[in-house]
Amino acid sequence: MAPIVTASAAAISEAADLIRAGALVAFPTETVYGLGADATNGDAVARIYAAKGRPSHNPLIAHVASWEMVHRLGVLDGPLATLAKAVWPGPLTVVVPKVPGGPVSDAATAGLGTVAIRWPSRPVAQALIRAAGVPIVAPSANRSGYVSAIQPADVVADLGDSVAMVLDDGASVDVGVESTIVIAHAAGDQPAAIEILRPGAITADQIRRATGCAVISSARVDDVAPTSPGQLESHYAPRALVCLNVTAPEPTDVWLSFAVMPGTATGARAAAELPLSPRGDLDEAAGRLFALLRHADTLIREWPAGTATRIAVAPIPETGIGIAINDRLRRAAAPRPDAS
Ligand code: TXA
Ligand code: MG
Repeated sequence: MAPIVTASAAAISEAADLIRAGALVAFPTETVYGLGADATNGDAVARIYAAKGRPSHNPLIAHVASWEMVHRLGVLDGPLATLAKAVWPGPLTVVVPKVPGGPVSDAATAGLGTVAIRWPSRPVAQALIRAAGVPIVAPSANRSGYVSAIQPADVVADLGDSVAMVLDDGASVDVGVESTIVIAHAAGDQPAAIEILRPGAITADQIRRATGCAVISSARVDDVAPTSPGQLESHYAPRALVCLNVTAPEPTDVWLSFAVMPGTATGARAAAELPLSPRGDLDEAAGRLFALLRHADTLIREWPAGTATRIAVAPIPETGIGIAINDRLRRAAAPRPDAS
């Protein structure tokens, strides 16, 4: 099993050596845990796809910790540069044209002419990138398609021996859902529009205010191969079935409640109630989302058969980071590829 190591200066330096030697290191970011590898090393990048069971046509995000590194990888200008200056370091990923002959391995960008770049804010993530001296590609540190990892134990449970080291900074989750991913579209002399490919903590309103651009929300990146038009691909999915917008849970539901005091109202009827946020705080709910989905899955698996059979989730307001929460939940509830 991969060792979970307290992120001291010595441990970060050892982790950076492992990255430079082509191994995989898991590290916390302000969004979720990342599974890191040297972005410039095609063999190391291939190890990420193998460890996650991730399809090779789904590209990775290159994580950086300086403007100099940003500009070595991608052509960042115009409104996306303005936005990046306002947000970075922070939970934003920009998809921009690759610098020709740039250092990121083609394996990491799935052969596209663009590269996804993110400058994370969590100190341990920045320290690791600086110590490694190379951009680090890092998908969420979970098996492909499963619930994202937000704590060291999730990483070990999902990825076991394929990770050389799991860094632990002892801090609790910050944002809890993955970064907002954006791309800019310019049409002739029309002002650029910015498209949100994946919603996150940085909202359409913030992007509009920072850039003055029109913002389109397509949330299309996790649909790498949708089975039919308009159908969401299953992603972020626990093993148990997920049912959304449940205000009156069944006795065999594990209920992820929102804005209700535990044990009161309809919640008393569920097999278990796991509150996303009793006080109805969307930031708190985002921070708990993936941990509670994993916890619900464990309860359903470990209880005597039939005690609980389904994860039911209360309605979440479609505003602010609630948009990102609902995006992840819809994908978690989407039909599974292996379901008959
Ligand atoms: O918050 C985050 O972004 C986390 C932490 C670890 O930084 N990382 C993360 O990575 O969520 P991952 O691999 O789970 O999701 C990356 C997404 C995928 O949906 C991928 O399709 C999209 O980014 N992506 C990467 N490169 C792209 C590109 N050139 N064009 C469009 N989408 C891209
Ligand atoms: Mg992911």
